[in-house]
Amino acid sequence: MTRAAAPGKIILLGEHAVVYGRPAIAVPVRQVQAVVDVEELPDGRRDDVLIDSPTMGLRAWLSEMGADDPLSQITRRTLEAVEGLAGRSISVRIDSTIPIASGLGSGAAVSVAVARGLSRHLGRPLDAQAVSELAFEVEKLHHGTPSGIDNTVIAFDRPVYFVRGSKPETLSVGAAVHLVIADTGRAASTAVAVAHVRRRWEADRTGVERVFDDIAHLVRRARSRLEAGEPEGLGLLMNENQTHLEWLGVSSPELDRLVLASRDSGAYGAKLSGGGMGGHMIAIVPEAAAPAVAQALQAAGATHVITTRVDP
Ligand code: PMV
Repeated sequence: MTRAAAPGKIILLGEHAVVYGRPAIAVPVRQVQAVVDVEELPDGRRDDVLIDSPTMGLRAWLSEMGADDPLSQITRRTLEAVEGLAGRSISVRIDSTIPIASGLGSGAAVSVAVARGLSRHLGRPLDAQAVSELAFEVEKLHHGTPSGIDNTVIAFDRPVYFVRGSKPETLSVGAAVHLVIADTGRAASTAVAVAHVRRRWEADRTGVERVFDDIAHLVRRARSRLEAGEPEGLGLLMNENQTHLEWLGVSSPELDRLVLASRDSGAYGAKLSGGGMGGHMIAIVPEAAAPAVAQALQAAGATHVITTRVDP
């Protein structure tokens, strides 16, 4: 059996603007992950793959799955890249602890884990860049114009400074950054949020482009803070980024409540993370304040709280 895993992710700063060519910073979240087990099926159908995902309620042969299903797509694309099954029959079992549709990159993590597990099992392991490119093609099914940040940070499993269309830069973090991540409990569609920003941009290109430029400036300053190991400064920049995201209309009453609760209980800064309109928020905290912030977030209605750290 071959096992492969991929982490969740969060965007520290720069979501939405990143779709329009500005930089963004994302980090892996290893407390949640997608795990894939690939096994030979001695009595299974030749040249076919049994895809089994109890968490998604799916068990089907690849040959019978629709071409636009994300799991079938990543499996087919990986098989193409590693040149097929050659008469074998295998099963791909997918388990994930990453909440779906909440900004933690569940779709990209499943794709990365499948591409990694399958290519390794078939003796042609793909590198991070190749896996990222395959997962990017599948991300397009989830929402039409993905920037590629999710598949990149998850495939590289390192903090990244990402600009659409450029080679991803992995970042060295100067000192541990402590984060508390909270789920609003409201599932939100990235596609809907991206379309909302698109309408806003079409109605007021000058204004929205100016906000994207401001966000880009914050992201560049945040990169220096992260590399220098200054989480407090990073938190303040995240607060400013949240103001821009509110202006773009992608925050929500639940996100606003959690953001305020975390700041009031000792966070350096906080913002929504990902598409917004629900999903997750993140707070950057002094290590000692993490339990109090987590508690305050729960009291303010968070349905799930993760405390994590980004290590140097
Ligand atoms: O909702 P998520 O975590 O998949 O993040 C989406 C980030 C956006 O910038 C809103 C879209 C994108 O493709 O980068």
